[in-house]
Amino acid sequence: MSHESFPTENPAVVTCGLPYANGDLHVGHLRTYVGGDAYARALEKLGQATAFVSGSDMHGTPVAVNAWREGVSPEEFALRHHEKYAETFPEFDVEFDNYGHTREETNVELTQDFVRELDDGGHIYEKEIEVAWDPEEDQPLPDRYVEGTCPYCGEHARGDECDEGCGRHLEPGEIENPTSVITGNPAEYRTREHEFLRLSEFQDYLGEFIDRLDGTANARNQPREWIEGELQDWCITRDLDWGIEYPDEEDLVLYVWVDAPIEYVASTKQYSERVDTDGYDWEEVWQDEGEIVHIIGRDIIQHHTVFWPAVLHGVGYNEPRSVMASGFVNLDGKGFSTSRNRAVWADDYLDEGFDTDLYRYYVTTGTGFQQDVDFSWERFAERVNGELVGTLGNFCYRSLLFAHRNYDGTPDSEVSAEIEERIEDAIEDFGDGVDGYSVRAIGQVPVELAQFGNEYIQGHEPWKLDDPERGTVIRDCVQLVKAIAVLAEPVMPSTAERLWSQLGESGSVHDATLDAALDAPSANFDAPEELFEKIDDDRVAELNEELEAQIAAASEDGADDTADEAGSDDAAEPAVDLPALADERIGFEAFQDLDIRVGEIELAEGIEGADDLARLEVDLGVETRQVVAGIKQLHGLDELPGTRVVVLANIEKNELFGVESNGMVLAAGEDADLLTTHADSVPGTKIR
Ligand code: 2FM
Ligand code: ZN
Repeated sequence: MSHESFPTENPAVVTCGLPYANGDLHVGHLRTYVGGDAYARALEKLGQATAFVSGSDMHGTPVAVNAWREGVSPEEFALRHHEKYAETFPEFDVEFDNYGHTREETNVELTQDFVRELDDGGHIYEKEIEVAWDPEEDQPLPDRYVEGTCPYCGEHARGDECDEGCGRHLEPGEIENPTSVITGNPAEYRTREHEFLRLSEFQDYLGEFIDRLDGTANARNQPREWIEGELQDWCITRDLDWGIEYPDEEDLVLYVWVDAPIEYVASTKQYSERVDTDGYDWEEVWQDEGEIVHIIGRDIIQHHTVFWPAVLHGVGYNEPRSVMASGFVNLDGKGFSTSRNRAVWADDYLDEGFDTDLYRYYVTTGTGFQQDVDFSWERFAERVNGELVGTLGNFCYRSLLFAHRNYDGTPDSEVSAEIEERIEDAIEDFGDGVDGYSVRAIGQVPVELAQFGNEYIQGHEPWKLDDPERGTVIRDCVQLVKAIAVLAEPVMPSTAERLWSQLGESGSVHDATLDAALDAPSANFDAPEELFEKIDDDRVAELNEELEAQIAAASEDGADDTADEAGSDDAAEPAVDLPALADERIGFEAFQDLDIRVGEIELAEGIEGADDLARLEVDLGVETRQVVAGIKQLHGLDELPGTRVVVLANIEKNELFGVESNGMVLAAGEDADLLTTHADSVPGTKIR
């Protein structure tokens, strides 16, 4: 971490990537927003002045093409989706302080000011370039109006991004074998005049910026290759009639990736104007000393770590402190697919009647933020029943019930030093989670505290004690419940709120800062209610049947079964060259010779001088092993502790960069996708 720890004296802004206003939301889309909301709430818990903002991305071809397919105007199409998003986010307790959109006056004006400022600063120039053109329709084919082959990796790509391959942004004219999306005909190239940002001039600045940038490791590591390579200037205009006009040039609009991030600023400005600058000053954040935290999907890292900081620097604004880039959500091990209706839609989740906290908890704590997370109804039920019903719900309910029945509330005794210390540790872990940009660590804190509480109550058996000993144990438990309510609020706001009111506390737990975890609980409260309901196997079977029926119906309706359509959601299964399966068979005895165990990473740190290697300490139940693994660039090392992995324990010892490796962590593919377990096998369990 290269910045001061949170909380700082400066105001912070947490932004979430703007969703294109072009389709329905499914639970996979919600991951970044839930993560952003939890992170912003966690900052507030630490006492950091924070604005949480976003808005809908209304412009560009992602909207224009879909509106054209539906036969409506882009304006009507985008506004309809914007209104729906503005309604859906709060239903998942994603509570933006401001949720605007990029067509609002504030953004249009600010965008044009930015562009004028860049122009005045000599950062923009005009150049003639070749752009794709549909000869039959006699119209230009910007961005998503054209498809073809990526010149960098050879995969199928869209006009402005290699969405199915290497993920690179593509400049107009770069795509090979261009085909018009409108007519399906091969596209031609025609010469047009466009505006360019001199990105190459920002190379040195960007090199320093990326070294300072905090957040998830992928957001720092991925762009290095681009920043350190040859930085091409960036075409910032398009031949399109949907977008924000390039100042004083009527026939060009700005590329959507110019005005979209400026909405982060516009949205903060709108919030600031609403609460008055005494409450929150947008200029302080964006132009002075604010803490700018961007939370995005991992497919738009380049835009946030190369183009956007260059623009901010060019207009003399503050730079992002951190970028947190989330992995995707898969469904039963495969990518979500809008085109095949292979998705759990946000509305359908809500219609099933599940508390949104269940999903929030599942998606934030299932894996580290930058790793992909798999959604399945089985796993959902397993985690709800285990961690939420069995651990957190159980501890809170039994403690409050015992306290209410025997003391009408909190017993009149002092909290013990051991419990105070345990809560202080939890608060520290929570703060480390915020500083380490780990939403998972933040979400795990209250559940671990409840786990401790269950062991504490079991160890002390208050039902066998008399007062004052019994009162002390129950007083401790009520204190733990209060701390759980405070610490759970970022990830599970509605559960925390219910718990707060069960504890007889007034006001909202949302407004309580971390100190409240150690404040004395209310003297009186009513009988509690269970916080969560168990999801039984029949319900899981029903949910799976519904999902299968939905997918089957889409495929009968002729949904595209081969190619996935737009969006990171559909790109979750990258094309890989798979080697043929081995012909040579091995006997079971040979397999038995492999001592493969479940392990839990306790520590992960980079090895100095080795670009790719990390030193891990892995708990194998019977002992902790030091293992060297080639995952330094591929995983956020800060997020690995606590991750269950699969370890080949009896591989020969090895020494790499002077560090002994005593075991091998198993991983799949080029990205070192770490193998894990899906139930509760403890470290040391043998894999057979
Ligand atoms: O990729 C996307 O979905 C874009 N709409 C994200 C924009 S984020 C930002 F920069 F505004
Ligand atoms: Zn590519």
